[in-house]
Formats: sequence, C-alpha cells, structure tokens
Amino acid sequence: MFFFSPVPFTRIAVALIVFAAWGKVSGQSPAFHLDPAKVMGPNACAQCHTDETAAWQLTHHSTEFSNIYRLPQAQEISKKMDVKLMNREGICLKCHFTVQSDPTAAGAPKAIAGISCESCHGAARDWINIHNNLKLPNNIAQATAAGMIPPTDYYALAANCFSCHTVPEQKLVNVGGHVAGSDFELVSWSQGEVRHNFLQDDGKEGKTNKPASQNRLRMLYVVGRCVDLEYGLRGTAKATEAANYGKALAWRAFNARKNVQAIFDATKLPEIKAILDASGTDADLKINNAAVLNAAADKVSPLIKQFSSANDGSKLAAVDALIPPASKYVGTVCKP
Ligand code: HEC
Ligand code: HEC
Ligand code: HEC
Ligand code: HEC
Repeated sequence: MFFFSPVPFTRIAVALIVFAAWGKVSGQSPAFHLDPAKVMGPNACAQCHTDETAAWQLTHHSTEFSNIYRLPQAQEISKKMDVKLMNREGICLKCHFTVQSDPTAAGAPKAIAGISCESCHGAARDWINIHNNLKLPNNIAQATAAGMIPPTDYYALAANCFSCHTVPEQKLVNVGGHVAGSDFELVSWSQGEVRHNFLQDDGKEGKTNKPASQNRLRMLYVVGRCVDLEYGLRGTAKATEAANYGKALAWRAFNARKNVQAIFDATKLPEIKAILDASGTDADLKINNAAVLNAAADKVSPLIKQFSSANDGSKLAAVDALIPPASKYVGTVCKP
C-alpha cells in the first residue's frame, strides 16, 4: 500500500509512521567485525607481505587509526551514542578498528590498528600457516575453509566491504548523526588507494601494482552491484523509523536494483534476471518490513554466490561500458 518511491522520503514518512506496525529490530549485531581471539594483527602479515603492507599504510583504513577519534565530528557522534572514546569501547570498534583479545586474557579486547589486512581477508589465526604452505595441495582452498577471504572469492570479498560501508546501524545514523553508508562501488573503491596487487607482478617490470585484469574488473563490478542490492535489502530490513537511516537504505536498494537491471539489459544473462526476480519489488522498500526484505536477501545471496563461483569474467564483455574508468578510482594508487 505504501510504496517506496523516488519522492523525498519525508513526504511519505508521515504515512509510514502512522500505518506501519512497529516491528522488532532483527537479530543483535555482533560486537566486533572479527573474532578478537583469532586476530593476528597486521604485523603478522608484514614480515612476508612487505609491499602490501606499505600500500595499506597509506590508506585511510590505516591512517585514521591515530586520527579519527580526535575529529570533532567523531566526538559529536560518540557523545550522542554514549561512547566515551571510540577507539576503546562501543559500537565504533566494529567498523573502524581491528580488535584483538588481550593475550594474557586479563583485559578487554583492544583496538590494535585501523581497518587492516584481516578486516578484509578474515581473522587469520586458523589459516595463516596454511595459506602460505606451498607444499600443501590447494593451500588457498584449505585456508579458505579455515576462514580466509581470498581475492578469488568475489562474493565473500564484496560482502565483507558492504557489511561496513552500508553502515547498517539505525541508531548510529538516526541518533548519532553518522553518515548513512557511502556511495560504494567495488571497482572504483578497490582499485584506487586500496589497491595492492603485487603478487601478480612477474618481476620483469619491477613492482607495478597494476589494476585487476579486465576479467577481474568485470567480476568485481557485477558481483559488487549484486551484493549492494543484497545489503541494501538487509539494511532496509533493519529500518523501523521513518528517518534518515530508512531513507538512505531504501534508496541504496532502489538504486542497486536499477544498476543490476542495467547489467541484465547489457548481458541478458538469465542468472542476473534470477537475482533481480528474487530481490522483490520497490514496493517492499519500506520500514517495518523485515520478514519480507530478509527473505528476499536470503534468496538473492546464494544466487550471487553461484554466479561468483561459476564465472571468471570472460563472458562479461557486455558490461565493459558500465565499469567505472580509472579516473573514478577512489584515492591515490600506491606506486612503490
Ligand atoms: C610466512 C610468510 C607469510 C605470512 C606471514 C603471510 N603470508 Fe600471505 N601469502 C604468503 C605466500 C607465500 C602467498 C602465496 C600463496 C600461493 O601463491 O599459493 C600468500 C598469499 C596471500 C594472499 C593471496 C591469496 C591468493 O588467493 O592468491 C593473501 C590475500 C594473503 N596472503 C594474505 C595474508 C594476510 C592477511 C596475512 C597476515 C594475517 C598473511 N598473508 C601472512 C606468505 C605469507
Ligand atoms: C557499521 C559500520 C560503522 C560503525 C559501527 C561506525 N562507523 Fe563511522 N564510518 C563507517 C564508514 C564505512 C565510514 C566511511 C564512510 C565513507 O565512505 O565516506 C565512516 C565514517 C566515519 C566518520 C567520518 C570520517 C572522516 O574521515 O570524515 C566519523 C567521524 C565516524 N565514522 C565516526 C564513528 C563513530 C564515533 C562511531 C561509533 C559511535 C562509528 N563511526 C561507528 C562505518 C561505521
Ligand atoms: C571493518 C569495516 C570496513 C571494511 C571491511 C571495509 N572498509 Fe573501507 N572504510 C571503512 C571505514 C570506517 C572508512 C572510513 C575511514 C576514515 O576515513 O576514517 C573506510 C574508508 C574507505 C575508503 C576511503 C574512502 C575515502 O573517502 O577516502 C576506501 C577507498 C574504502 N574504504 C574501500 C574499501 C573496500 C574496497 C573494501 C573491501 C575490499 C573496504 N573498504 C572494506 C570501513 C571498512
Ligand atoms: C580494504 C580491504 C583490504 C585490506 C585492508 C587489505 N586487503 Fe588485501 N586485498 C583486498 C582486495 C579487494 C584484493 C583484490 C584486489 C584486486 O583484485 O584488485 C586484495 C588482494 C590481496 C592480495 C593478492 C594480490 C595479488 O597481487 O594477487 C594479497 C597478497 C593481499 N591482498 C594481502 C593483504 C595484506 C598483507 C594486507 C595488510 C597489509 C591487506 N591485503 C589488506 C582487500 C584488502
């Protein structure tokens, strides 16, 4: 009855407040992004991955560790959220920091870095000594089974970025005044300052830190857009108040569906059509609609995983015109 429509949210907000049943916010979110007991910290990677570490150290993910809590904006959000120091306690730890358990088990888990290697590749205690053991058959597959997110698993890689970048926290946005997610697109956001593609260098040209191959870019683009839709649905499912949070997340899902539609229009791939069909309709994008939206996201998710593992980009030339060009890459690429 009350459709999400691309008119200013406030105009329909009143109707939503009056008529929507106040549902329970689904599921308590875990306190940390990673299990602090399994976090090794970026120094554990640096001894072998020196170039990747040098590149990471130039990114906002790393540098904000010692800056962000000093920003007036951060202090204002913290105050409204009843957080004394954002790098010590509370909800901010989940997305802004790498949190490790105290090895003596005496103290509380502690922020040891900003967003670091394991924030994106998985907490490493159970896989660090498997992934680099070149004598093991399928070392990366075995490491993945033990919790690694390898660059070849497009779905897991993308879902992980979106789990932070959609900022799926209603109170943080509506009460804290935190930004409601960013205009995140996987190619442009991964190929700029975040890029650290040194393993693929063959050594002949030195350290080039080239962008991902065209086939990889296609996969990052298509899977990224589809995961944006899934996380847009999941984020909107958590909206119970007709305010900034619900508005931003409903827009996110709405736009993501348009972007996936454009991928279908270009490729005519039935797998993409199936994802669109499973994602429900724009009319579902309203507050207090968790059951419907989560069910749609749960249908979309395995379809994206299937697409992600069954494709290598070679059949996706039709999306080349949609992929953001290098001029749109976010931040400065590290050239050692
Ligand atoms: C003792 C050396 C060593 C350490 C320590 C190490 N790595 Fe690696 N890493 C390697 C080697 C060697 C490879 C290449 C494996 C291969 O080609 O099969 C690799 C590959 C990778 C890859 C690419 C996997 C792929 O699919 O190509 C990632 C991602 C990675 N490491 C992340 C990490 C992270 C994160 C840490 C710290 C938690 C870490 N590594 C610690 C040696 C190491
Ligand atoms: C669900 C994940 C998440 C949580 C929880 C979270 N943030 Fe953020 N925050 C982000 C993301 C993602 C960005 C970057 C948005 C962008 O891409 O521009 C951000 C950006 C910010 C910025 C702007 C940074 C800048 O350099 O301009 C501030 C300030 C901030 N957050 C403070 C906080 C505080 C304080 C808390 C805890 C009360 C918190 N955040 C909790 C995800 C989160
Ligand atoms: C654990 C949460 C988390 C994960 C996972 C994460 N990010 Fe971020 N990212 C943030 C936060 C928080 C910021 C804001 C940092 C700041 O300025 O304080 C940010 C900032 C960025 C920026 C800088 C944006 C700018 O405006 O300068 C880029 C680029 C970026 N992230 C890309 C990525 C990509 C690509 C992935 C996945 C491969 C990813 N992020 C995964 C939390 C995360
Ligand atoms: C913001 C998320 C993020 C962070 C932080 C991050 N990575 Fe990555 N990593 C990625 C992504 C995304 C790729 C795939 C990039 C691509 O295809 O262009 C990747 C690729 C890799 C690769 C394979 C590169 C190649 O040439 O094939 C290695 C090795 C790696 N990362 C190690 C690390 C280490 C070590 C750190 C910490 C110093 C780290 N990563 C921090 C997201 C991240």
